[in-house]
Amino acid sequence: MIPIARPDIGQEEIAAVTEVLQSGMLAQGKRVKELEDGWAEYVGVTHAIAMGNGTLALMAIFAGIGLEPGDEVITVSHTFAATANAILSTGATPVFVDIEPDTYLIDAKKIEQAITPRTRAICPVHLFGLVADMDMIRAIADRHGLVVVEDACQAHGATFRGRMAGSFGHGAFSLYATKNMTTAEGGFVTTNDGALADWLRVYRNQGMRARYQFEMLGFNFRMTDLAAAIGLAQLAKLPRNTARRREIAARYDAAFGELPIGLPITPDGRTHVFHQYTLDVGGARDAIVADLREAGVGADIYYPIPVHRQRYIMERGLHAELPVTDDAAARTLALPMFPGLTDAEQDQVIAAVTGAVERHLGPNATVAVGAAPAAPGSAPGTQPGAQPAAGIAAR
Ligand SMILES: Cc1ncc(COP(=O)(O)O)c(C=O)c1O
Repeated sequence: MIPIARPDIGQEEIAAVTEVLQSGMLAQGKRVKELEDGWAEYVGVTHAIAMGNGTLALMAIFAGIGLEPGDEVITVSHTFAATANAILSTGATPVFVDIEPDTYLIDAKKIEQAITPRTRAICPVHLFGLVADMDMIRAIADRHGLVVVEDACQAHGATFRGRMAGSFGHGAFSLYATKNMTTAEGGFVTTNDGALADWLRVYRNQGMRARYQFEMLGFNFRMTDLAAAIGLAQLAKLPRNTARRREIAARYDAAFGELPIGLPITPDGRTHVFHQYTLDVGGARDAIVADLREAGVGADIYYPIPVHRQRYIMERGLHAELPVTDDAAARTLALPMFPGLTDAEQDQVIAAVTGAVERHLGPNATVAVGAAPAAPGSAPGTQPGAQPAAGIAAR
């Protein structure tokens, strides 16, 4: 099976980890500091604070901006649940707004109507490696005095008008094994706010600045030097690996240009880092995924059940009407995308996709668009804002 993702681990990482192991200094130390400095410079911010993972990075930001029960944070449901969970960890409430049907990112036009006197922050998720509309989001946040927290966990190096993801507000990154850059598990907060950065460094270290002097409530959210050593090798390779992801995406784009499916788009002024390469194949999605897996292609669905439809979220009364999110959950699939994907492997993926799309969406299709099971409450292809897959030009 060609996997959906495969970490790019080579001799550099092995040598770097070995060196740390041999040094005997395994926990947070000078490698973490080096990685933080390198990441801050790369993103173009004054502070990067390493964390144990991306969820902790988000939790630490939400704690650091002082969220409390009763506060609201506007975000999306079309994301990994950690975004909403981190908000909930402070006792605050995630308020879900819908996404754009073509970018799968927060629909900034819908943010203002979700603002209430309790709104404290907006948390766009730069899903799949594309930055949300930060012009609109920053303008809305400034107008209403809201904090911007970017979930950039999938967007290492993606830009919006030349500025990096994670530099528009307080940013959270994940360094999980399948991310564009990894430390196995790890994360960063990025910020230009010196006071918040200082608070975060103490918070992640049990509330200690000086040894055994606990100046505030804190926890262990630290990264290890072992992880940071991997991260330094990965950071050096990130530009090359991002370029390779773009090359793979361009080859998919060219191969699928004539098929009646939706391809990823990159709006003007942005650069995509293709954490995922996502197709909109309409109501035949589940049949196509089954065919791809049969053909040895590890296609996957991000995300099959949106956060607002998860039981623990609904039990908290956080349901929302999000037709475009429901559509995305029912219609999309992601293809293998990682720097080490060979041309031969990609040819196999392309042949499998082309065959499955012709079978299920071509003139002699046996599965009609809209016939596949939908996400609960959703009718694929019939929701406002959704486009029927059969009519979609390549984008
Ligand atoms: C959008 C998004 N938010 C948050 C996270 C959480 O990151 P981690 O898995 O490192 O805790 C991830 C990654 O898994 C993610 O993709």
